[in-house]
Amino acid sequence: MNKELIVVLDFGGQYKQLIARRVRENHVYCEIHPYTLPFEELQAMQPKGIILTGGPDSVYEEDALSYDPRLFSMGVPVLGICYGSQLMAYELGGKVTPAPHSEYGHVEVSVKSEESSLMRDWPEETSCWMSHTDRIEEAPEGFRITASTKECPIAGMENPEAGLYAVQFHPEVIHTPEGYRIFRNFVYDICGCSGDWKMDSFVKTTIQEMREKIGDGKVLCALSGGVDSSVCAVLLSKAVGKNLTCVFVDHGLLRKNEGDEVEAVFGPDGPYELNFIRVNAQDYFYEKLKGVDDPEQKRKIIGAEFIIVFEKEAKKIGAVDFLAQGTIYPDVVESGIGKGATIKSHHNVGGLPDHVDFKEIIEPLRNLFKDEVREVGLELGIPEKLVYRQPFPGPGLGIRIVGDVTEEKVRIVQDADAIYREELEKAGVDMGKGQFFAALSNMRSVGVMGDHRTYDYAVVLRGVLTSDFMTAEAAEIPWNVLQICMNRIINEVPGVNRVLYDLTSKPPGTIELE
Ligand code: XMP
Repeated sequence: MNKELIVVLDFGGQYKQLIARRVRENHVYCEIHPYTLPFEELQAMQPKGIILTGGPDSVYEEDALSYDPRLFSMGVPVLGICYGSQLMAYELGGKVTPAPHSEYGHVEVSVKSEESSLMRDWPEETSCWMSHTDRIEEAPEGFRITASTKECPIAGMENPEAGLYAVQFHPEVIHTPEGYRIFRNFVYDICGCSGDWKMDSFVKTTIQEMREKIGDGKVLCALSGGVDSSVCAVLLSKAVGKNLTCVFVDHGLLRKNEGDEVEAVFGPDGPYELNFIRVNAQDYFYEKLKGVDDPEQKRKIIGAEFIIVFEKEAKKIGAVDFLAQGTIYPDVVESGIGKGATIKSHHNVGGLPDHVDFKEIIEPLRNLFKDEVREVGLELGIPEKLVYRQPFPGPGLGIRIVGDVTEEKVRIVQDADAIYREELEKAGVDMGKGQFFAALSNMRSVGVMGDHRTYDYAVVLRGVLTSDFMTAEAAEIPWNVLQICMNRIINEVPGVNRVLYDLTSKPPGTIELE
């Protein structure tokens, strides 16, 4: 697909994905590349504009990250953000020094909007989000100063003749309320983009591309019922129809009725023309998980067994030409980046099988962010219920049942979870901004029902608000809604005599209980 491109050059900034999303929200395609991207390759991409991210270095230090200085005279507009702005100033003869005081968080900013192309529609006084210890002390020749804060006399500078623009603050975060305008002005007014990145045309061109690539070949796809693999499957079914086979492994750790819902959409009675194989491996997984109570061990077993079951099915089909995966852009951007301590191994069932006989992997969604995948899903006519399905971990209820997993515990947590989500929906609680689910604690305690003593499990209700899933706050669910849930769960789900609401934020907790 031939499209306008903005390149984000990454200098280790934590908001790089957000920058790319802001650009894409303007219907302009954007890719993130590391600062090590060779200049010639950058040129060959023929970008309409380039954005330099923030980063932890100080530009004046000897081993600080930098880029080929030809970048600034290649005739393509450049926007430097935070470290990127300092790099632009430094490389072009300005001065960057440690600021007397660092600025973190909300900062008042004065803007000369009349003199700025980047901030032309900003109020003169507003706030922005800062996170810096260095500052631009002197702008390079030819630049005019367009914004300043108390600690940062040059919080914005531009040289429109040279197509160079810089801001010290972070326009990409929502805490800079006017920030979105910068991206719009940059991509449309400054870079001259027309906004050709639209999901309806993505669907058309991708179907066409897939058709050409696959020809008469056979494609195998692991379908989990999650939004990414579902969209991937439907896209491919539109491209190659019956040459696509989807294998859906029901490991018995799905939400209530989920297996049947997936089958209803993708199975023989559904609207799509694909070969659909449902493997009912519930008992197999319960057997494998019997007596295992360590969370990491459970993740490993579920992940490994999933692949074994999938491979077994794949072998029955025989050699295939392509293995399709629902990889999306954040997976691509994050892969290969070192992480700190392993808190959870995040085993994604549906990882790449080693022993399936295929020639090539195809990943039609690898350039899309999650919200774009959802848009594509709607374009393709996938039911909204499926498109807006809450994120669900690969190991499923296996990690929502504290301790060992049994069929009875799965039944309890499925029923409690269904009641909880039904009541939240009824009460109009917006579940789109986080994750809401029931889990099962391994705790049994004494209760009284009728005139009988009970000794049953405690269900844990969890609701978190999060946008990045790295940090999260417990959602404030109205007390009466929680009470309704408690009553219904205890009355309707045998084996439960207590309901708890988990107030823990992340950190120190995690979203899932295990
Ligand atoms: P935690 O519990 O680590 O969860 O705060 C963060 C996000 O990741 C999901 N999650 C997983 N997803 N395999 C997955 O595919 C896993 O093993 C796994 N563990 C947690 C969790 O649902 C949340 O969205």
